[in-house]
Amino acid sequence: MTAALEAAGISVSFGAVRALQGVDLVVGAGKLVGLIGPNGAGKTTFVDAITGFVQSSGSVHLQGQDISKLPPHRRAHLGLVRTWQTIELFDDLTVQENLAVAGGRPSLVSTVADVVFGREPRAEQTAEEVLGLFDLQEVAPEMPSNLSQGRRKLVGIARALAAGPSLLLLDEPAAGLDTQESGDLGRKLRRLVDNGLPTLLIDHDMGLVLGICDEIYVLDFGKVIAHGTPDEVRSNPDVLAAYLGKSGQAQAGATWPAVAEGTRER
Ligand SMILES: Nc1ncnc2c1ncn2[C@@H]1O[C@H](COP(=O)(O)OP(=O)(O)OP(=O)(O)O)[C@@H](O)[C@H]1O
Ligand SMILES: [Mg+2]
Repeated sequence: MTAALEAAGISVSFGAVRALQGVDLVVGAGKLVGLIGPNGAGKTTFVDAITGFVQSSGSVHLQGQDISKLPPHRRAHLGLVRTWQTIELFDDLTVQENLAVAGGRPSLVSTVADVVFGREPRAEQTAEEVLGLFDLQEVAPEMPSNLSQGRRKLVGIARALAAGPSLLLLDEPAAGLDTQESGDLGRKLRRLVDNGLPTLLIDHDMGLVLGICDEIYVLDFGKVIAHGTPDEVRSNPDVLAAYLGKSGQAQAGATWPAVAEGTRER
């Protein structure tokens, strides 16, 4: 089966900083793939590169189609949809309006609603129903500034779904969520993927990533240092070293699988 995403040899430099060095990453059809790594490892840069927001070398195929040379809006139109690490909601629009301007293709909004709600396709399904997935219906008329950080994150994900993704890229969706909210988000993401929406999940919440992903890639200093099932990654000595530092001392007091907060020097 054609992979949802196939990125090969992705390299990005910012001046002297080699943020990504020949990263190969595949999201198989119907798979939930995790991308983890310490702060500054290059995770967000990878999403920026494959969505076309930063210039990169290498190739990107979406459902078998070479999109490497396409501008960001064309890639998005083909269904490569991301969320942002820092929340990017329109603060002068209501939650509902934020979804309405997501640029969703109606047929795909319906498809997402269908897989989420397990219904037969219906033409009149709306972004409102995507809000329903995250129990956000009652805040649809609210301004985003009135919502908690956690709920704003959920609106960001709902907005991405309303855009009609064929591949969903989530950059730290659980940041700002409490343990219960994160667990709930994990179950919803798993359900979305199981119903056919391939997803790349970046997060520092190791319980979430190790708990729900089919496979995981680990980045460190712009390179893939490990790739495998959650169990394989959990016990990989290189991964432990990346998180704990070569000395074996936890950085900033972090213990695996928790993650050091401070960005390390390169
Ligand atoms: N626009 C930019 N200009 C210069 N350097 C950048 C830029 N964006 C990222 N970098 C650098 O590239 C490296 C990778 O950063 P990136 O944000 O991709 O890491 P990350 O894995 O997403 O980290 P975090 O977990 O903190 O979000 C870092 O050294 C960062 O400082
Ligand atoms: Mg990041």
